[in-house]
Order: sequence, then C-alpha cells, then structure tokens
Amino acid sequence: MNGDLHGLDIEPRVTLLDALRDRLGLTGTKKGCDHGQCGACTVHIDGERVLACLTLAAQAEGRTVTTIEGLAREGEMHPVQAAFLEQDAFQCGYCTPGQIMSAVACIREGHAGSDGEIREYMAGNLCRCGAYPHIVAAIRQAALEVAS
Ligand code: FES
Ligand code: FES
Repeated sequence: MNGDLHGLDIEPRVTLLDALRDRLGLTGTKKGCDHGQCGACTVHIDGERVLACLTLAAQAEGRTVTTIEGLAREGEMHPVQAAFLEQDAFQCGYCTPGQIMSAVACIREGHAGSDGEIREYMAGNLCRCGAYPHIVAAIRQAALEVAS
C-alpha cells in the first residue's frame, strides 16, 4: 500500500474501499455509490485502475495498491495532480481523487491522444460539479508533460 506493507485481519466480505477508509485511515479514496457506477473510489492495483468498491480487500492480498495519498513523490505533486490544480479541474473535490487516479492510468494506457479519447476513457468517473472540460484540459496538459 503506497510503498508500505500492511497486514490486516478482516472479514472476507470487506471491500478494498472500506478497508482503505475505515481500517487504514486513508480517506482520500471516496465512496460515491458503492456500486461501481461513479468512479470516486478508483485506485490502482499493480498499476491498473480498479474500482475499490467492487474489489474485495482479500483480492488485493500480496499486490501493490496505490491510492491518491501515494501519488506524490517526496512532497512533489504528480504531474496529473499539478495539472488539475492549474486547470481548475475540480470544485467540491469529492470526485477528484478518483478522477486523478483514473487519469494517471488513462495516460499510462495510451488513451489520452485526443480530447475525444480522453472523454471516452474517463467516462467511468462522474463529476456533479461539471468540471469535465477542465478535467480534459488537465489530462491533456499532464499527458504532454509525462511524454516529454
Ligand atoms: S463508490 Fe465505487 S464506483 Fe462509486
Ligand atoms: S468536483 Fe465536485 S463532483 Fe467533481
């Protein structure tokens, strides 16, 4: 988990989302629906984006989990985090951790080639504040920075 080893003794039914928030105190990952429909709970397992509300904590055993809290390096924001800030890509901030984790993976997957592609591959992350145009701009900016 974000570079540290965590041993947890939990019931098999506990989701990764609840384990993160309630057992590890990592509250950056949000619960917007708990049904796989909003994307607020997006984290990475072994570098790939997954919905933590549809993942059992047990499924993460022995694997590398990265959450929004683990994205910055030595206090330095990840380029996607910096771009979200610069482009005003959030308002209330509740969807933002999921948006950012999803965006990092979206760029890594090579799905940030155009605004249309970004919109399509970020469609799993809902934002009620309507920050979508700014989110697309931030991802476009970060994708260029990551590539250079
Ligand atoms: S809380 Fe997981 S998709 Fe909504
Ligand atoms: S910034 Fe409020 S839901 Fe996206």
